[in-house]
Amino acid sequence: MSNDAVRAMLVLGTRPEAIKLAPVVRAMTASSLFEPVVVTTGQHREMLHQMLDLFQVCERIELDVMRERQQLSTLTARLIDELGEVIREGRPDLVVVQGDTTTALAGALAAFYERVPVAHVEAGLRTGVPDNPFPEELNRRLVARVARWHFAPTAGAAAHLMAEGVSESAVFVTGNTVIDNLLWVLDQRVGHSHFTTDLRRVLLTLHRRENQGDAMRCMGTAVRRLADRGDVEILLPLHKSPAVREALLPELTGHRNIRVVEPLDYLDFSATLAACDLVLTDSGGIQEEAPTLGKPALILRTTTERPEAVAVGAAELVGTAPDAIVAAAADLLDDPAAYARMANAGNPFGDGHAAHRIIAQLAADFERTPADPLLMPLGV
Ligand code: UD1
Ligand code: UDP
Repeated sequence: MSNDAVRAMLVLGTRPEAIKLAPVVRAMTASSLFEPVVVTTGQHREMLHQMLDLFQVCERIELDVMRERQQLSTLTARLIDELGEVIREGRPDLVVVQGDTTTALAGALAAFYERVPVAHVEAGLRTGVPDNPFPEELNRRLVARVARWHFAPTAGAAAHLMAEGVSESAVFVTGNTVIDNLLWVLDQRVGHSHFTTDLRRVLLTLHRRENQGDAMRCMGTAVRRLADRGDVEILLPLHKSPAVREALLPELTGHRNIRVVEPLDYLDFSATLAACDLVLTDSGGIQEEAPTLGKPALILRTTTERPEAVAVGAAELVGTAPDAIVAAAADLLDDPAAYARMANAGNPFGDGHAAHRIIAQLAADFERTPADPLLMPLGV
């Protein structure tokens, strides 16, 4: 590796960060202009480890900050402390963070304290409600105050940043790297669907902190009512969070039309998504992936920072009330025309080339010549 290469430290700690930064790491690894180092914080343990194969060959520093039922404040403090040390020792040219997790916020702050510039991937998403999702909406607003580069997935996200006073010259619309990864993974054709019947296939995921407790238990009741139709197979790869398990397991075990499984690795999850008929989710990433594969998505939340999917008609913001959830799912399962409209609405989150746009911009700003054809600008 040339001494001249830009030393990029990519900080990630949870499942979605690994998935969404993997294309950036792959693109940097393929280019002689960058020397990527991945720092895994271990904010997630099992769910992160099952994603690390996505990174293939790449230098990696592993921290191990996860504790059972970790509190946000202690997690944040430990992350800033340990990441500060890694950045101090590594002296990277830049730190790359993704999204709105505690790892992203702590990575940005730790880099700022070490006077290392920060690139924010998936910048500018906003619900407009400071504590929903909690704590992600605040995290991403705070990362925006620190970042030097804001890689926004959509024009709407870019507009939020500029409305907050971020200079237009620091905001770049790239598409979402999750699409890069999904298309890359499906192209490998190595994952397997985990559905087991020929019934209507419903893929369910739930994990958001603001819904944990009663709201999540009620959503479990709604799912059980949906399963009572008898013509659906509802598959729930269950998040590792103990709070999520406590809320959902009592409601969802023991029904013949509901299968609860451990989190799937990304290869299998992508194949399972590709095989499903309908998605019920409170996940951010899955809201982006489902429209890419033409799968109608019902968003089981009261707000979304990804209104683009709703605007094009690929997703519906259903809320968390049981009756609304059951009715919205039944409408789609029973009305082929409504189903087809959502399935064919299209994907507003990018064309699968976001990572190349990101590293092309960074290469230009670090005054490296984009001799590598992969770094030539791609039409948006
Ligand atoms: C975090 C992110 C959220 C993201 C989600 C992706 C924050 C504040 N939130 O939420 O934005 O959508 O990850 O899944 O960063 N746990 C395990 N094993 C694992 C993973 C988690 O046991 O592999 C447990 C942890 O001990 C903790 C709980 O799950 O008690 C919650 O994990 P945490 O990282 O604090 O937040 P998430 O709710 O997963
Ligand atoms: N995912 C996965 N296995 C699963 C569930 C989800 O690989 O069992 C992937 C999914 O494809 C998406 C990402 O995890 O890319 C979403 O993560 P999550 O819902 O935990 O977080 P969020 O996107 O809400 O931050």
